[in-house]
Amino acid sequence: MIEHAAFPTIRPRRLRRNALLRQMVRETTLSPADFIYPLFVRYGSGIQQPIRSMPGQSQWTVDKLADEVREIAALGIPAVILFGIPEHKDAHGSDNTDPGGIVPTAIRAIKEAAPDLIVISDMCFCEYTDHGHCGIINLPSDRHYTAHLPEGYLLNDPTLDLLARASVVHAEAGADIIAPSGMIDGMVGAIRAGLDASGFEHVIIMSYAAKYASAFYGPFRDAAESPPSFGDRSEYQMDPANKREAMKEVALDVAEGADMLMVKPAMPYLDVLAEVRRHFNLPTAAYQVSGEYAMIHAAAANGWLDLQRAALESLMGIKRAGADLILTYFAKDAARWLAG
Ligand code: PBG
Repeated sequence: MIEHAAFPTIRPRRLRRNALLRQMVRETTLSPADFIYPLFVRYGSGIQQPIRSMPGQSQWTVDKLADEVREIAALGIPAVILFGIPEHKDAHGSDNTDPGGIVPTAIRAIKEAAPDLIVISDMCFCEYTDHGHCGIINLPSDRHYTAHLPEGYLLNDPTLDLLARASVVHAEAGADIIAPSGMIDGMVGAIRAGLDASGFEHVIIMSYAAKYASAFYGPFRDAAESPPSFGDRSEYQMDPANKREAMKEVALDVAEGADMLMVKPAMPYLDVLAEVRRHFNLPTAAYQVSGEYAMIHAAAANGWLDLQRAALESLMGIKRAGADLILTYFAKDAARWLAG
């Protein structure tokens, strides 16, 4: 056993004695500039529809967005990421490839209201398809039906064409960053080729490079009204058990031309985030997903956690683990809390 008296001068507590000292030796800092705020835009007009499972978050119609995005920009948050709730869904999610679709319309409105705010378009089809899967499903009724592939299988390459087309439509509307989130093989390469062929070489791709099939997306599926009508997303999203595979997924996206990376969810995957940060020299974001947000809110509503402290601690943990950017529903609150 070590005799404490033998090390009389070793006292780490000295550096924690008061708030100013703790601030002097603080290794990680949080700032509104770290945050990306997710926004749900829906069809209709005059509606700000609160999302029951995500206290403080709403679905917005496009006409209600202007004040909201000006407020976000004024808080020092540099970017929003958009999710659409279209009026009509169909097998190919055609709202997403339509220049008059919900997200392209919202992008134009945001760029008009807050021209400097960076607009990220979540690029996936699950919010737009009637079956709720992230691309074209192999069904006998579909013109892409491929008899030798299993029924219900997500058709990879036809989905790539749609992703590239939708990305060009969103870039034309003014999106600064396209963020493919479907874990479709080759999605980054297909989108890069599509953007470049249409003159959008300056549009950035932020890939949801390591996205897990997670229970923590539960509240989002309410918010975006996009649960799969059959099966789940485990055939394309990653198995929570795998970290080496995440490194393979990230390496592929880097090779295909991703400009920024993302790990999702955040808190249960901080080891993956740290590993990605260590091995790849690209800006790396982490997505603190709907379930992480809802969980902290639910505990706080019961008086079991202090909302502000728990939320800021969760964000600090994500930053400390290596995130350059954090997608978080706490962005606005945290920006206010950090401003004191
Ligand atoms: C769509 C998408 C999802 C989320 C972001 N983009 C849902 C899913 O993959 O099932 C989840 C975000 C959240 O839970 O906050 N592909």
